[in-house]
Amino acid sequence: MTTAVERIPAVASLRRAAVRATRAPSVHNTQPWRMLILADRMRLFADPARRLRILDPRGRQLTISCGCALLNARVSLAGAGHAARVTRFPNDFDPGELAEVSVVPGVADLDLARLDFAIEHRRTNRRRFGDEPVPAEVIDALICAARREGADLVPVVAPLHRLAVARLSRQADALENADPAYRAELRAWTTNDPSRADGVPAFAVPHVTGESGDEIPLRDFDTHGAGWLPTRTRSSMSQALLLLTTAGDTARDWLRAGEALERVLLEVTARGYAASPFTSLIEVARTRAELIDELGLQAFPHVLVRVGRAPAAEPTRRRRLGDVLTEIAGSETMPS
Ligand SMILES: Cc1cc2nc3c(=O)[nH]c(=O)nc-3n(C[C@H](O)[C@H](O)[C@H](O)COP(=O)(O)O)c2cc1C
Repeated sequence: MTTAVERIPAVASLRRAAVRATRAPSVHNTQPWRMLILADRMRLFADPARRLRILDPRGRQLTISCGCALLNARVSLAGAGHAARVTRFPNDFDPGELAEVSVVPGVADLDLARLDFAIEHRRTNRRRFGDEPVPAEVIDALICAARREGADLVPVVAPLHRLAVARLSRQADALENADPAYRAELRAWTTNDPSRADGVPAFAVPHVTGESGDEIPLRDFDTHGAGWLPTRTRSSMSQALLLLTTAGDTARDWLRAGEALERVLLEVTARGYAASPFTSLIEVARTRAELIDELGLQAFPHVLVRVGRAPAAEPTRRRRLGDVLTEIAGSETMPS
């Protein structure tokens, strides 16, 4: 069958998909994934050594991050003209094997293929966002992108709900920052070493002076006092705020939430907008429960996203491909 996009051989496409998977966002830029390419398929594994012990005790954000990588791999294969079959949690004996993506005969998903170019342009943008509202048709497209991945994206619109999100964000921020173990973990994953291939770099975070005036605080990554971006991010209650939720709260839901998050972020990028995720208010069990209650949610929240127009952000670094990818050309078996 023919497609509107040019098709390249499966192994080359899988390698390209692995490279693009590594461009995904991940909590604290931990890049908690490993990949294995067999002849016509790719297996995606969680890397438990990269789980954040304090912030992410259940591995929810690790799995969401891997879901983002999975979506990029799917988009990349579609962009290379391939149809793909995805089996999530294919191995009952290994919950760390998150997905298998096989190249199969058929027509590429053109809705995914059109997002391929956005993978290299997507960034977490922690700069000040402009004041102009995000048009309703853009919000609708983002809601639709999340739905295609089995998740919901709930615009936080009602003034009472916005107030609740702002209050709970500040509360979660204060609770986390009061915990020395949280601060130590954050310090370990933030860096002003330009050669470091993981962690959140100083050039991607605002310089924190305690004067940001944010109603919805961005996470204070500036643990070394070296943040390059302007202090004032104007993260306010009036910006476009969208809450990503799923019906359940299992590992499978987390993986799907990650796929939905990245699909939304690529759609944001493709439309010339910027976004940054907030997860503090969801990490703290108490504020997550209050959020569900105050917004009357019938689902589990995972990530709050702000969307707007902003000056460009720099790309963050990724680990070397050889450190995350194993290739077994022509083999059908796993290494022992
Ligand atoms: C599950 C998840 C949670 C995140 N939580 C936050 C957050 O609370 N605050 C924030 O500023 N960035 C957050 N991020 C963004 C990451 O810090 C970012 O993806 C990473 O540093 C790599 O940078 P990049 O997205 O520009 O490639 C989160 C990303 C993911 C996938």
